[in-house]
Amino acid sequence: MARSLMGVRVTGWGAYAPDLKLTNAALEQMVDTNDEWIMTRTGISERRIAAPEETTASMAAVAGLRAIATAGLAPDDIDLIIVGTLTPDYPLPSAAALVKEAIGNKHAAAFDLAAACSGFVYGYRVAHGYLASGLAKHALVIGAETMSRCTDFSDRGTCVLFGDGAGAVVLSASDEPGGTLGIELTTDTAATYSIWIPAGAAARPATAATVAASEHFMRMRGGETFKLAVRKLGSTAIRALEKSNMTLDDVDLVVPHQANARILEALSKIQNFPMERVFVNIHKYGNTSAASVPIALSEAVAEGRIKPGDRILLVAFGAGGTAGAVALQWTANPDDRLRADGIGPKDVRILDTGLEPVSPFPPALEWIRVGASGPEAKGSPE
Ligand code: ACO
Repeated sequence: MARSLMGVRVTGWGAYAPDLKLTNAALEQMVDTNDEWIMTRTGISERRIAAPEETTASMAAVAGLRAIATAGLAPDDIDLIIVGTLTPDYPLPSAAALVKEAIGNKHAAAFDLAAACSGFVYGYRVAHGYLASGLAKHALVIGAETMSRCTDFSDRGTCVLFGDGAGAVVLSASDEPGGTLGIELTTDTAATYSIWIPAGAAARPATAATVAASEHFMRMRGGETFKLAVRKLGSTAIRALEKSNMTLDDVDLVVPHQANARILEALSKIQNFPMERVFVNIHKYGNTSAASVPIALSEAVAEGRIKPGDRILLVAFGAGGTAGAVALQWTANPDDRLRADGIGPKDVRILDTGLEPVSPFPPALEWIRVGASGPEAKGSPE
């Protein structure tokens, strides 16, 4: 017997970005690059870097608490916690388990989801399945990354691109009209090793040799990733719209993954869709991977770019050739975000391991953190 599915809507949203800024001017002092190259090739002006005491889970917990407060809920109203991330605090336990403990939730199922920059959109899809089928009532979907911990700050091809942060939504089951309209996820194996971290996991466990060869840092073939990103963002978005009986003309605002402003401009040109209806905040944060869509969504609401009734398209592309898009009709009151005022890092505490603490902060950025005038040595060009 066929059973009717519940509708799913965004009822809460929130984001967190660390205070410390890594500017193009600072990068100029570290590697052979310049502000003009970075701005014209990527659109990035600065990124945020997590403090030594911050981790993916701690930032995720702040964004999560803000989203829960915005939804007018208490942490224990959440039945499911998904953290999309490629930079969990540890291989295990999951960042989601740490978040659950940090926000004081008692009964939710909590797990991480590995789909790189598409992690948040993939998480949305999974949570949607739980909610629509009645397995959960409220889900917390977070995208959170500490990219600075897997970035080689002597590689100018990647270190100018990435930043740290977290964003979250609460998704709730509801039979009211509006909410999620259509979702599409794809994975293109052509890009399997276009962006990758060669060592530190089961195929190449960390050894002194892998660390000496910097194999624990992210590597990227930028050109081929760029082209595939433009193609897959477009085709995945169109498919999600088709599932929603919509076309791009019906979309009030696209909130895309922020990997490169030129990717978004190329996409807008190919799809004949005006850039005025594409939300861009990459200049402030760089590519925060799974965090980028929910950070952008929160900022778009705060800036008055999203109002009830608007049709929104979330779309992302990432490592592993993952891509995902969600078409939705916004139903929440943008002013609900004021309920999260005052929530910050002071409100979360990640369970202590009992081990001797180490600073995870990148040594190459220490001079910025302590306010020195420059690094000791500049990284050599490729
Ligand atoms: N400063 C100055 N010069 C640079 C820099 C830099 N920071 N980086 C590269 N260059 C040089 C290159 O060495 C090259 O020099 P050469 O011609 O002498 O060899 C030249 O600039 C052009 O390099 P390209 O790689 O062709 O530059 P491109 O215009 O493609 O921009 C970039 C590179 C920004 C990385 C771009 O390819 C890109 O954004 N790719 C997509 C990234 C992406 O979408 N990632 C999404 C997923 S990320 C995830 O899932 C974790």
